[in-house]
Amino acid sequence: MPEVRVKNATKKYGKIIAVDNVSLQIHANEYFCLLGPSGCGKTTLLRLIAGLVEPDKGEIYIENRLVTSVPPEDRGIGFVFQEYALFPHMNVWDNVTYGPRVKAMGKKKSEKLGREMLEMVRLFERFDAFPSELSGGMMQRVALARALAAGSKLLLLDEPLGALDAKIRNDLRYELRKFVKDLELTGIHVTHDQAEAMAISDRIAVMRKGKILQVGTPQELYMHPQHIFVAHFIGESDFLEGYVSKITKKESIIELRGRLFVHTLDKTHEEGDKVVIAIRPEVLTVEKGKKRRENSILGHVEGFRFEGTNVRCQIELENGDSVVVVRPALMTEWFNIGEKVTVSFPAEKSFVFTYPERGLKRELALE
Ligand SMILES: Nc1ncnc2c1ncn2[C@@H]1O[C@H](COP(=O)(O)OP(=O)(O)OP(=O)(O)O)[C@@H](O)[C@H]1O
Ligand SMILES: [Mg+2]
Repeated sequence: MPEVRVKNATKKYGKIIAVDNVSLQIHANEYFCLLGPSGCGKTTLLRLIAGLVEPDKGEIYIENRLVTSVPPEDRGIGFVFQEYALFPHMNVWDNVTYGPRVKAMGKKKSEKLGREMLEMVRLFERFDAFPSELSGGMMQRVALARALAAGSKLLLLDEPLGALDAKIRNDLRYELRKFVKDLELTGIHVTHDQAEAMAISDRIAVMRKGKILQVGTPQELYMHPQHIFVAHFIGESDFLEGYVSKITKKESIIELRGRLFVHTLDKTHEEGDKVVIAIRPEVLTVEKGKKRRENSILGHVEGFRFEGTNVRCQIELENGDSVVVVRPALMTEWFNIGEKVTVSFPAEKSFVFTYPERGLKRELALE
């Protein structure tokens, strides 16, 4: 049940800082996800932990043992690569039962384990196929079965479900977590899919441009994003620019464009600060007609879509700003395009961030 510690690790490729002074602690028996957009350094960080890449600076500890210069094979890890490297000259069965642990088990036990692993990834019936005869998703499942069978206590999974179709991906992700929990392993799972990370993680590190922006449980990241990009990347948010107009004992009142005011409970800014309000589309409410009251803004419907469980309304506010409101379809009125509406902003549900130095659009870009 290894605990992994990364201390001030940096890895550069020429001018690119793939991992930028990252410190991170992963607890024993934790299912941990590294989440972030493409190119943010997830794979590089995982490879640093695996020992496939050496950091330019910083240290890696596994179970309190400094392993920065220890080769990957001596770190006690199982690794599923993003590009599913199977042994091409071996069939599925031989790939899965290749590990020394399986070999040392004796025939009966190793056959049982191999079968269990292949059944878990739903490929037992293809045990005699060669990698070249399998689809990308199937190869990925074999790679997963092999890493699990090898018996390492620390599993490093780089987009292990990336090549799978939605249904099997959904099923397998829970099984993966269950497997790690049942066998008391520690799992570090890289993904760029926030829904996947939210569904299976104990904790998530949200990465961007080589840095970790926030580490927390899925609930913490959703309820208390500490960075504007986290509010954007985890769940969904509407963003409104403004200035802190007045701070009272109870509230902080933000002035938006067009002299509109929104009340928030923010305590972290001062009068005059340029800020961005982030608010979840599912906490806004919208009703027909003009209702002038505190913390409501008038607007009109620009778009309305039925999405199955929810309806999604795109609303242009009277100051020209736009917000999306998402409501459960069975619990809301339906709107026509152009219809006048009132949008209400619950003060306790909004997040207020300092306006980013490089502008809002660039701060939210998935680069
Ligand atoms: N071997 C390498 N040589 C040069 N640059 C590299 C190398 N490996 C990674 N990089 C660069 O480092 C940055 C981070 O790459 P990394 O593969 O860690 O990203 P990632 O978060 O895993 O992205 P993805 O979700 O697309 O897999 C990228 O800009 C990438 O081009
Ligand atoms: Mg990657």
